[in-house]
Amino acid sequence: MKSMVTLSVNDLSVQYQSQGKKVQAVDHVTFSFDKNESLGIAGESGCGKSTLGLAIMKTLQENASVSGKILFDGKSILETSDSEFTKDIRWKQISMMFQGAMNSLDPVFTIKKQFEEILKKHNFQGDKKQAIELAISSVGLSHPVLDKYPHEISGGMKQRVIIAMALIMTPRLVIADEPTTALDVLVQAQIMILLKKLKKEGLSIILISHDLGIISEIAEKVGIMYAGQIVEFGNMQEIYKNPKHPYTIALLESIPKLQETKRIIPLKGNPPSLVNPPSGCRFYDRCPQAMEKCKKDPPKIKTESGFVMCWLHE
Ligand SMILES: Nc1ncnc2c1ncn2[C@@H]1O[C@H](COP(=O)(O)OP(=O)(O)OP(=O)(O)O)[C@@H](O)[C@H]1O
Ligand code: SF4
Ligand SMILES: [Mg+2]
Repeated sequence: MKSMVTLSVNDLSVQYQSQGKKVQAVDHVTFSFDKNESLGIAGESGCGKSTLGLAIMKTLQENASVSGKILFDGKSILETSDSEFTKDIRWKQISMMFQGAMNSLDPVFTIKKQFEEILKKHNFQGDKKQAIELAISSVGLSHPVLDKYPHEISGGMKQRVIIAMALIMTPRLVIADEPTTALDVLVQAQIMILLKKLKKEGLSIILISHDLGIISEIAEKVGIMYAGQIVEFGNMQEIYKNPKHPYTIALLESIPKLQETKRIIPLKGNPPSLVNPPSGCRFYDRCPQAMEKCKKDPPKIKTESGFVMCWLHE
């Protein structure tokens, strides 16, 4: 069994250049997690979750510029050359289930062929057949799936294939970007059972989701992202029981809970644009507790297990 990893992200920013404008997709983000912990990143569409994952994978598009520090088991990812990262880390130590990947499996190749391509791309040296069989059995698939084309298998099976592909080079950390989105509730539950099993076997997981309920099933640590910033970070249990940031509270109120008849309160309004985001608290326009001083940048206040960025907790 592999040992789980530590990851520490310090003051990470990612800016995209797009049509002459600068999009600040990740804005001075800091967090860390330890061995035996998995991390969840939650927030609405467009808040920068995927960008954060891609930065850790060193797989950002060419129009992105990155600053800050990412330490993976103490090694600085941003200071590692691309060739060294490709040779030793990408897919071999850290892999990613890209958002929507199950819908971009190549329709003209069998699943087996697509596994072989990944092994080739990552310069796999061992027994290919054995590696593929091991990967598919670890996600609960059996041999016949290998001869099928993507359109011949169900959504749940496709997602298992994507997980198996991320696991094929036996990485220690997997970044799962919205792995249950677009699947029906029953299949979502099965995928979560699978991720939990893999975690128990020693895999570190970063789970990216707009659904805090799903994250709470697996993650010990959670970061709540809003308009490019992490506005609250800490132990999942603490944040679930006692959320401090008004945005976290709104997110929790917007998810249905089993066995509870509590009314779901949808979050109204939209986050600010990431092109020249406003100064002061970015949640200001939507916050039920906004005060005059919230027009100034909120301080980062230490909590029991992390921090919250909000004037209410000064
Ligand atoms: N390659 C790119 N070039 C320019 N802007 C980009 C690029 N990729 C993402 N963005 C912008 O960066 C911001 C963050 O995008 P990102 O995809 O990281 O958000 P997300 O939280 O993953 O959203 P979703 O929940 O919809 O997947 C958005 O405003 C998005 O439009
Ligand atoms: S800083 Fe002010 S506006 Fe922002 S979340 Fe806290 S109370 Fe609301
Ligand atoms: Mg995304």
